[in-house]
Amino acid sequence: MFSRVLTDSLRISLSIPQYADELFALTDRNRLFLRRWLPWLDGTMTPDDTRQFLALQVQRFARGESLHVTIFSDDSIAGVAGFNSLDRINGIGYIGYWLGEDFTGRGIMTTVVRDLIEIGRSYYSLQKVDIRCATGNSRSRAIPERLGFSHEGTLRRAERVYDEWFDHEVYALVIDQREQDIPPNA
Ligand SMILES: CC(C)(COP(=O)(O)OP(=O)(O)OC[C@H]1O[C@@H](n2cnc3c(N)ncnc32)[C@H](O)[C@@H]1OP(=O)(O)O)[C@@H](O)C(=O)NCCC(=O)NCCS
Repeated sequence: MFSRVLTDSLRISLSIPQYADELFALTDRNRLFLRRWLPWLDGTMTPDDTRQFLALQVQRFARGESLHVTIFSDDSIAGVAGFNSLDRINGIGYIGYWLGEDFTGRGIMTTVVRDLIEIGRSYYSLQKVDIRCATGNSRSRAIPERLGFSHEGTLRRAERVYDEWFDHEVYALVIDQREQDIPPNA
């Protein structure tokens, strides 16, 4: 099983259907918190909905289309993240993420996204990582800003979340493969 230890209390693992019951319980507890920014809550009403979603993610991973990881904090599921899509032709990965509210405010997602960038560079040879956040979602926007992404622009009315249309702020990090390959003491 693909798993990476990020700190003493934090690890990420490739998402698999076996996580469905615990991930659904976290989703269900955080329905109101997540609904503010994520459009899929009404389609996730049972553990089986989460199981089907995770089974699809495994298939997409196998085809090289995406990478979905589950975040564990002290062995409890804290949230998920990943490359929602991998554009292998152009070497671009599109990151998405969410946490249960109890797990916010600790730097967990910033640490996970930093590791996803390294995975994108070393496993998928990405040359660019893209994160899109609704304009008003300041906590989400703070993650690429903290990690040195550039703000590339605004996409107007990019996403419908229930009855609202959101503009998206596009953040991108260009990865210089050659620079990363130089040893630190060279
Ligand atoms: C977006 C979301 C993941 C951000 O969560 P978050 O907890 O703010 O992000 P992080 O885990 O990176 O933690 C950063 C916070 O921890 C603090 N922190 C503590 N230790 C830290 C560390 N070592 N490194 C970075 N930040 C740290 C930061 O100061 C920040 O807190 P602040 O906002 O009070 O300043 C979360 O709000 C969420 O899931 N929202 C709902 C779903 C959503 O919007 N998804 C994104 C759609 S684009």
